[in-house]
Amino acid sequence: KASRTEMTISAWYMDDDETSDQRLPHKTDPLQPVSSQHLTDIGVLHWEGMNGVDDPRLAAIREERGYTYMDMIECCPEKLPGYDTKILSFFEEHIHRDEEIRFCADGSGYFDVRDENDKWIRVHLGAGDLIILPAGIMHRYTNDTNNYIKAVRLFEGG
Ligand code: LAC
Ligand code: NI
Repeated sequence: KASRTEMTISAWYMDDDETSDQRLPHKTDPLQPVSSQHLTDIGVLHWEGMNGVDDPRLAAIREERGYTYMDMIECCPEKLPGYDTKILSFFEEHIHRDEEIRFCADGSGYFDVRDENDKWIRVHLGAGDLIILPAGIMHRYTNDTNNYIKAVRLFEGG
């Protein structure tokens, strides 16, 4: 039985087209898939198919990693004030001193991370998927063409 990860390609190397819409998949032809092992090797952790924010797998990860605080952001033109500017600023590559932890409760989007050779990997996050970016990794975010994500942001509590 194929696992969900094998059935759905959720990470790939991006094409070099920087002029067309950031919300398109930007896959290469042929596709260069990125395995979850490769993601793990660069410190990006990724889980798929959880059943909402109350999924026991998510609860276990929160417990183990000390994510005691969370909030929620709905990113779409109707609900996010200043959507057009925000979506551009999310897509400017940046780093943080802390992990970036996002659970997709609904909708979908793309997290792009730079690999060990500074090449962009695009990771698709759909409903029920969790991503943890390590502190210090170059990354950016964009909605996909559905223009909607309900993202739960998790944080290590103090
Ligand atoms: C953040 C995403 C956009 O920093 O990377 O919230
Ligand atoms: Ni960020």
